[in-house]
Amino acid sequence: MPTLALIATGGTIAGSGPQHHYTAGVLDASVLLAAVPELAALAAWQVEQPFSIDSRDMQPAHWLDLAARIRQLQVDPSVDGIVITHGTDTLEETAFALHLLVETTKPVVLTAAMRPASARSADGPLNLLHAACTALDPLAALHGVLVTADASVIHAADLLKAHTHKTDALRCIEGRGLAGQIMADTVRWQTAAPQRLGLPELLALSAGVQLPRVDVLSAHAGASADLIDFCVTAGARGLVLALTGHGSIPADWRTALDRARSAGVQVVRASRISAGGVWPGCNEDDEACGCIAAGPHTPQQARVLLMLALAALPDITRSRLAGLFSPD
Ligand code: SIN
Repeated sequence: MPTLALIATGGTIAGSGPQHHYTAGVLDASVLLAAVPELAALAAWQVEQPFSIDSRDMQPAHWLDLAARIRQLQVDPSVDGIVITHGTDTLEETAFALHLLVETTKPVVLTAAMRPASARSADGPLNLLHAACTALDPLAALHGVLVTADASVIHAADLLKAHTHKTDALRCIEGRGLAGQIMADTVRWQTAAPQRLGLPELLALSAGVQLPRVDVLSAHAGASADLIDFCVTAGARGLVLALTGHGSIPADWRTALDRARSAGVQVVRASRISAGGVWPGCNEDDEACGCIAAGPHTPQQARVLLMLALAALPDITRSRLAGLFSPD
């Protein structure tokens, strides 16, 4: 019988209590497994619960800790695949960080739930079963880090939480295809994995490395440029701008952005619109500000990439950084 490692980190999938007043992350991993008797027939389980939190409290240090543990399990001959339970709220960030930080020589599948385990119609048990089926699929490792929810399999780099309360909240960024769908506990693969960065310096980032401060600033009518100066003074090494449209920089922000860049802060232009991306070569005025186009990345993904890249390659040039955001 194959062995799956379960790394339980909390979230609503491990939540209990009244539907709108439950507490995330209070259930032991053994309770999640016991809720789905089929799991014991599919695999032997090696369970660990390094922390159990509401994912709004997830810290960048947790990404590095998880990546380090996954790397250990990847070389443990007694383990065939890795399943991670997590809250949905920041799953996009953890999934994208792991996409950048680990190679999947064995399947790595994250899952979550929108309803607590105590709900009348909890979605966690089926999502966990589907994560196990995916982690046992011989093709899963070729797809990189994956997420299962609502009978869908999503590549970690394509994940977006797109609804505040429905059980199909975890979706693909518009324009990307599902990795697969799960029918009768079997994955029907659909779309090849997106290109991986595979940067050795990122794959070598170890637990305990201090990640630099990178702030996300959202543009809106009348947004104050003071916030840019504030972040720089507070020690930000990078800024991600969640701008309007195709990453349009407000005229009022330009002088503060010049100051930020002169202080050595790397600035990435992303969009607050979740589809389409922000691409180089599309707006001369905005590019004259010397900011890096986020390419296909959402602001939250761009922040993860910028933090990890600045930690792994502290002296990286702006042009090399730009190439990481918009690879050819
Ligand atoms: C969390 O992200 O931990 C709480 C919300 C959820 O899992 O849906």
